[in-house]
Amino acid sequence: MPQPAENNLTDNWYTPAFYADPYPYYDAVRNVAPVIWSESEQGWVVTGYEQVAAILHDPERFSSAGRMAALLDRLPVEDRDHFQPIYDHFSGGMIRSDPPDHTRLRQLINATFTPRVIKTNQANIETTMRCLFDRFEADQNVDLVSQFAFPLPATVICQMLGVPTDDLEQVRDWTIRINSVVAGALPLREAAEEMQKALVELQDFYRAMIAQRHQSPQEDLMSLLVAAEDEGERLTEAELLSTAENLLAAGHETTTNLISNTVLTLLRHPQQWQRLATHPDGIPQAVEEVLRYESPLQRQTRIVKQDMTFEGQSLRQGQIVYLMIGAANRDPAAFVDPNCFDIERTNNRHLAFGVGVHFCIGAPLARLEGKLALEALLREFPKMQLAGDHLRWSPTAAIRGPVSLPVQLKP
Ligand code: HEM
Repeated sequence: MPQPAENNLTDNWYTPAFYADPYPYYDAVRNVAPVIWSESEQGWVVTGYEQVAAILHDPERFSSAGRMAALLDRLPVEDRDHFQPIYDHFSGGMIRSDPPDHTRLRQLINATFTPRVIKTNQANIETTMRCLFDRFEADQNVDLVSQFAFPLPATVICQMLGVPTDDLEQVRDWTIRINSVVAGALPLREAAEEMQKALVELQDFYRAMIAQRHQSPQEDLMSLLVAAEDEGERLTEAELLSTAENLLAAGHETTTNLISNTVLTLLRHPQQWQRLATHPDGIPQAVEEVLRYESPLQRQTRIVKQDMTFEGQSLRQGQIVYLMIGAANRDPAAFVDPNCFDIERTNNRHLAFGVGVHFCIGAPLARLEGKLALEALLREFPKMQLAGDHLRWSPTAAIRGPVSLPVQLKP
């Protein structure tokens, strides 16, 4: 159990013990105060549910713009020119802007992500799952991450965007490297270098795709974005590239972890796994509990827009605020027995998808994929078991999920 002191509360983050189980660390910080300055993060760390929700609801005072620049500004001044491409790319886009820019960008694709429209993907998701199951060998151990939880949502978002699905590993590699600065997995300079190289590759790939869609539009999201760019005032090329990058990355990594965390947590609570096998109508509620208990996205950031007092702390314009979603979702002030995993939990107002104007646009898709995946796994492999005790968790403070998940299928 970590013992924080006032000025080094988060020093012991980014360790294997933290990655394996961050929740005692969050509790230790929250027990001191729900909003606290962290020397090691050089920012405000917010672990209370009420405070995280209040900030997410307040884009007037807590901005989504300039978040990447605030992190990159920690690089030595002489490095900044070299990293101009990532400064430029991450200076805009839906998830990194405030109203009214944000409203305009979100409206462009809102209609594509309503629960009703997303439901039309169901047959496609089921076909993809059948193909993946066909590659399993009965009674063999499989790695559920690389053989199911990753390729399923990656295939679905690629198909929606119009990205060919023959090289999913390339998509995965781009995503991990592009997320490296936010994830905090590497020293900053190294992470920025990886991010920049991957981004340039992805942009080249997208530019070729965009040129092709200009010539012959298809029934896909990329064609929709290209049409908006053609209308000039609605979308610039930079916004198009940023939105397409955001959708590709946000559209699969988090859902991969939702599926992996669902299987892992239920197999660690075998009675609840068994209960769902016989009562599948409880699956949507169980998925919500996994979203709360093991939130795939553990933190988000905002930038303080103006000097202010918040929760008794003096926040200064330009400072970074780390919203610890994973901690908020285990706050005893908001949830009864927060460290208890209970698929029958009611009144589960978790923040796994955020809240307010940036509420996850992909939530209906993620929920559908999570539900269909769990239904299919329980139906096909009701006796599934974990194979081995040793788990390696994603070595980042932002992303929560096992790197691999060996299971024994036992149909
Ligand atoms: C379990 C899976 C997912 C989780 C936990 C998750 C989590 C989140 C969170 C917490 C936010 C709010 C960010 C903020 O306030 O700054 C967000 C926004 C967003 N998510 Fe998701 N997400 C998931 C799946 C998806 C999927 C499948 C897609 C795309 C198909 C997607 C696309 C987006 C986009 C584009 C935004 C930005 C929305 C905006 O800025 O208005 N997400 N997501």
